[in-house]
Amino acid sequence: MLTTSLTEPIRAEHQALLPHIEELGASATWIPTAPALVVHEKLIHALAFLQNELVPHAKAEEETLYPAVEGCMQAPGATDTMSRGHVEVLRLVDELATIRDNLGDPPTEADRDRIAAILHGLHAIVALHFAKEEEIYLPILDRCLTAESAAELFERMHHVAHLHKEAAVV
Ligand SMILES: [Fe+2]
Ligand SMILES: [Fe+2]
Repeated sequence: MLTTSLTEPIRAEHQALLPHIEELGASATWIPTAPALVVHEKLIHALAFLQNELVPHAKAEEETLYPAVEGCMQAPGATDTMSRGHVEVLRLVDELATIRDNLGDPPTEADRDRIAAILHGLHAIVALHFAKEEEIYLPILDRCLTAESAAELFERMHHVAHLHKEAAVV
């Protein structure tokens, strides 16, 4: 049976992002032994996704989705633990960008190990973070929003994400 919910747009957005999250985990496995050129390529590819897609998604949630959840719960600070997850993702993405900027050719073993550790970390953190949003927070919105307020929320979220994508520097 086909079921739809008011928060379907963000669930669909997660579905579109998830294969790329899985790819981070796969790349992490390859990085320690891959040829130097492949290490560079996978790092650039991962950062393009993280900076152009995932970070704008997280920032748009901060500015639109999380305030809506807290409004529904009438509990200021209820999404703070989720925001802390975003902070950790941003910190790891920044560290990855710094490694890319200073990466030698060939990359050192220490660089390979750190890149792999960061990608493994991002894979695990983001997969769990998505599950928390979908299983804990989105049902709260499904119970609280009207069709009209949900449409307005996701249009705003889409717009804010677009602004952050335009501002992303890779
Ligand atoms: Fe999030
Ligand atoms: Fe999300």
